[in-house]
Amino acid sequence: MKRLQLIVLSTAALTAATLAFAGPPAPKKAGIEGKGYTWNAQEGEKMEALKKTGRIAEGQEAYEVCGACHLPSGAGRPDGTFPQLAGQHTTVLIKQMADIRAGLRDNPTMYPFAMSMIDPQELADASAYMQSLCIPTDHGVYEGKDAAAQVAAGKALYDKQCVECHGKNGEGDKAKFYPVIAGQHYKYLLRQMTEIRDGHRRNANPDMVKVIKPYTNDQLVAISAYQSSLKMPGAMCKPKGKAAPAKGKKG
Ligand code: HEC
Ligand code: HEC
Repeated sequence: MKRLQLIVLSTAALTAATLAFAGPPAPKKAGIEGKGYTWNAQEGEKMEALKKTGRIAEGQEAYEVCGACHLPSGAGRPDGTFPQLAGQHTTVLIKQMADIRAGLRDNPTMYPFAMSMIDPQELADASAYMQSLCIPTDHGVYEGKDAAAQVAAGKALYDKQCVECHGKNGEGDKAKFYPVIAGQHYKYLLRQMTEIRDGHRRNANPDMVKVIKPYTNDQLVAISAYQSSLKMPGAMCKPKGKAAPAKGKKG
């Protein structure tokens, strides 16, 4: 019953947020565009949530409202509007949520929902649940006729400039807050690459920005094509209805 109410609530809230959200707008915190920006400053509610032990079962319930956009499987959408969250590191999920709430990463569509998850324990639980989901293999990839050439060009760049942080298979680094990118949608990746290069993703990592600053639009296409081709052995699953937990560990 509670489940049903939540689904009804989230659909109604989603419509409201999409049409006209009447609540207070997101705050704006100085990010990478400002002087004195420190990436991943060790402060705020992020630190509270990171200290909690995430509980997967409780997290499933907390995540329900998020599934309206990110889907119950955490797969997001191949059109790139909503990112894939399944299998993402808890550290990354908690940091991104805290940044969105603090106005350090602009996300007006999601902001009202981010504001509904204010309890650090709830955030830790939802993050543990998302991390426990296997990464569906049917995500959006680059589909042009020149896909093989794009992926090859992207691989050359990736091996030189990205692998040290995001890993050979796109597995990121949990302890360092480096995101998993395997299984992410091509169109979302391309949008993030562009926003990070152009300084619009304000919570970006300055060392990464240095790397992609000189990239042309064509290079961003190639690197995104390659990233969406990455596979993480053991963490991915064929989609069949509800996603099954891949790791089953506590976050
Ligand atoms: C109304 C739709 C919507 C809802 C509901 C929603 N999100 Fe999102 N979320 C988005 C959008 C859109 C983005 C990507 C924004 C961008 O492109 O920067 C996003 C991005 C994220 C990210 C960043 C992912 C990454 O790879 O960096 C996280 C984490 C996230 N959402 C978690 C949640 C959680 C947890 C909830 C539930 C409390 C939630 N979202 C509810 C729309 C939504
Ligand atoms: C110095 C380490 C480092 C390097 C080098 C680096 N990145 Fe990143 N990358 C990060 C960090 C940290 C984040 C998350 C930033 C934040 O906190 O929002 C990130 C974010 C991203 C994202 C957004 C993921 C999401 O879920 O929204 C993508 C995509 C990405 N990097 C791809 C790349 C590619 C491609 C390269 C090489 C051209 C690269 N990165 C180089 C550290 C790095």
